[in-house]
Amino acid sequence: MAEPPGDRILVTGALGQIGTDLVGALRDRHGSDSVIASDVREVPRHPLLEDGPFRLLSVLDGDGMDSMVREEEVGEIYHLAAILSATGEKKPELCQRVNVGGTITVLETAKEHGLRVFSPSSIAVFGPDAPRTAPQVTPLNPTTTYGMTKVTGEMMALNYWKQYGVDARGIRYPGLISWKSPPGGGTTDYAVEIFHAALNERHYDCFVGPDTRLPMMYIDDAIRGTIELMEAPTESIGPSRGGYNLSGMSFTAGDLANAISERVDGFTCEFKPDERQQYADSWPDDVDDSTAREDWGWKAEYDLGRMVNEMLDRLNDQS
Ligand SMILES: NC(=O)c1ccc[n+]([C@@H]2O[C@H](COP(=O)([O-])OP(=O)(O)OC[C@H]3O[C@@H](n4cnc5c(N)ncnc54)[C@H](O)[C@@H]3O)[C@@H](O)[C@H]2O)c1
Repeated sequence: MAEPPGDRILVTGALGQIGTDLVGALRDRHGSDSVIASDVREVPRHPLLEDGPFRLLSVLDGDGMDSMVREEEVGEIYHLAAILSATGEKKPELCQRVNVGGTITVLETAKEHGLRVFSPSSIAVFGPDAPRTAPQVTPLNPTTTYGMTKVTGEMMALNYWKQYGVDARGIRYPGLISWKSPPGGGTTDYAVEIFHAALNERHYDCFVGPDTRLPMMYIDDAIRGTIELMEAPTESIGPSRGGYNLSGMSFTAGDLANAISERVDGFTCEFKPDERQQYADSWPDDVDDSTAREDWGWKAEYDLGRMVNEMLDRLNDQS
């Protein structure tokens, strides 16, 4: 493996839901100047543009990424750029191009320059034949294009490690619930939208049915898990490195609406399933994360009650 040009961190797709929190956490840890946020777009007044370096970069631009890694002295890439499930099913060609093509760009750049890589996967890798609590190792037969791109991403991460020694690691994130930024076109977006609607309109039309149960996680757990995985010693990372199952919490859309009603007077929720219901139905209720616990000591801290309190408190503070 080549020696990396430096030890700065490049984050792709940084202006999205996860990047907005992850870049802040990485800057707190390593210093603002050491973490370069990048995205294919700019968002006016986004805090990441003011708190440290930001560069426009498409993950489909291999030459641009190569020069950025050399000129900015990068040693590690957190690769968050992707097209998520709901948008991806409307634009499957774009989803494959960005998710698979972008991951190839990142892994090739990492191979060339000796970089470490974080490349997230998703619970969308599972299909209807996976057990309702999906184990780490189980058939991966997703029904969505998005899920297929995530299976490919996991396999590529493992393959680049085995073939070229690229230290690439990933997590099968559940649906992530956060308050700083809006969700980016995924099937679990209802679990974030419902909080904003509860506080602003006292009503939410939920696009999946009340009995829809999915694996979910509060953003602070997800960010901590990401950093813990990347800081774990290489010898503790096993063959699941391309996509570790991480369990946070598992609840139905009805449970979530009820938990919010207990805190927000007059809140009502109507369930009006749309095409996203079928994507949700193809995914498991929960995941078994014993491999991540055993390999690198993962443990979630937020359950449904704590997450709901935290979301409502933070959003209230913000307004
Ligand atoms: N948020 C979740 O609940 C969740 C769950 C499972 C997995 N994930 C995975 O985590 C990663 C980050 O997700 P997120 O929720 O932050 O997504 P997001 O949609 O909020 O953000 C993705 C970002 O990627 C950028 N992007 C799109 N095309 C690009 C390109 N060609 N070059 C550079 N940037 C580009 C977008 O502008 C956007 O800012 C993705 O790989 C996603 O599949 C997220």
